[in-house]
Amino acid sequence: MISKLSQNIQPSSTLEITAKANQLKAEGVDVIGFGAGEPDFITPVEIREAAKKAIDEGFTKYTPVSGLLSLRQIIANKLKNENNLEYNANQIVVSNGAKHSLINAFAAILDLGDEVVIPAPFWLSYPEMVKIVHGVPKYVYTKKENKFKLQPSEFEEAITSRTKAIILNSPSNPTGMVYTAKELKSLGDIAVKNNIWIISDEIYEYLVYGSNKHISIASLSKEIYNHTITINGMSKAYAMTGWRMGYLAAPIEVAKAVATIQSHATSNPNSIAQKASEFAIEHGKDFVKDMVKTFAKRRDYLYEGLKQIRGLEVIKPEGAFYCFVDIKALYGKKYKNQAINSANDFAKLLLEEYNVAVVPCKDFGAPSCIRLSYTINEQNTKKRIR
Ligand SMILES: Cc1ncc(COP(=O)(O)O)c(C=O)c1O
Repeated sequence: MISKLSQNIQPSSTLEITAKANQLKAEGVDVIGFGAGEPDFITPVEIREAAKKAIDEGFTKYTPVSGLLSLRQIIANKLKNENNLEYNANQIVVSNGAKHSLINAFAAILDLGDEVVIPAPFWLSYPEMVKIVHGVPKYVYTKKENKFKLQPSEFEEAITSRTKAIILNSPSNPTGMVYTAKELKSLGDIAVKNNIWIISDEIYEYLVYGSNKHISIASLSKEIYNHTITINGMSKAYAMTGWRMGYLAAPIEVAKAVATIQSHATSNPNSIAQKASEFAIEHGKDFVKDMVKTFAKRRDYLYEGLKQIRGLEVIKPEGAFYCFVDIKALYGKKYKNQAINSANDFAKLLLEEYNVAVVPCKDFGAPSCIRLSYTINEQNTKKRIR
């Protein structure tokens, strides 16, 4: 008999829809996938070469639990130069993906029954991670008119005597919104006042468009810094999703606790991927720049196209690579006798009738919305936007 805990955890529906679309593709169907949560580019060749070199040099042994000191130093320099954050290498723990860093962070700070404020719409893994370590997700449903950003008053209302943390994700998956420094400061001050940890998931930091800027909340005051666990990783920035490289930077007590947990769970992050990450952070910026330019063009193209379609309410993405669309106006309508009463119905219809895969956002805390990734090229986007 499996545990009550595991019965209470939902499988990842984004991976499910990608699998379904891949299966149709394998059957020869020309599926256009707006579902993926990863760049369509492959890792730049120089980064791959760095990994090959590590293998050829026999860099195949266990590394320190928190990752190579040289890599953590490179990350510390990056955080200082790009994010205005002063971390020592011993405040940084490298893990097997930002997902791993996140669950490590929750495990390090949550006791049984502790609440984590999760602004909705949210990335679907947050609540499940909180539940896995016996915490309790506390959802706060943000408003469209506030661009789905958590308001200070909403945060304050959600705080109880059990609140231990809040998770913020800017740029956001799935909404594509980016918080300003002022907005982050207001939320950070509330967290400090109530002695709440801020988990700041900054995995999409480079993917911001137009005049939008990514800000690290921990850079906004010393007190906020002391309450923040900054999460980041290689997946989205360097098209390295399969390498599984993420990291967190935090006050030393948290970094130590995370390292202890990690020492028993995985010993250390992958040695070869660490060498590739060192190279990527130090030499990969041109690739990032080009990729962001491409995403910016696709964003405009997809957004302008979707805006023309009656019944869809689209919000202009500011960052990440997602277009977030409310389809509520289509509720009650029928297509070939199939009624649309949820984003799930709509997504199913799109896949079955048009071979278009999108992600219905029920598991993201937004049951009337779908998410489209612009991680596919313009020609393919064009084929299906009509
Ligand atoms: C908001 C957010 N955080 C973290 C991750 C995890 O990234 P990684 O591949 O580093 O585990 C994702 C991946 O989809 C994400 O969307």
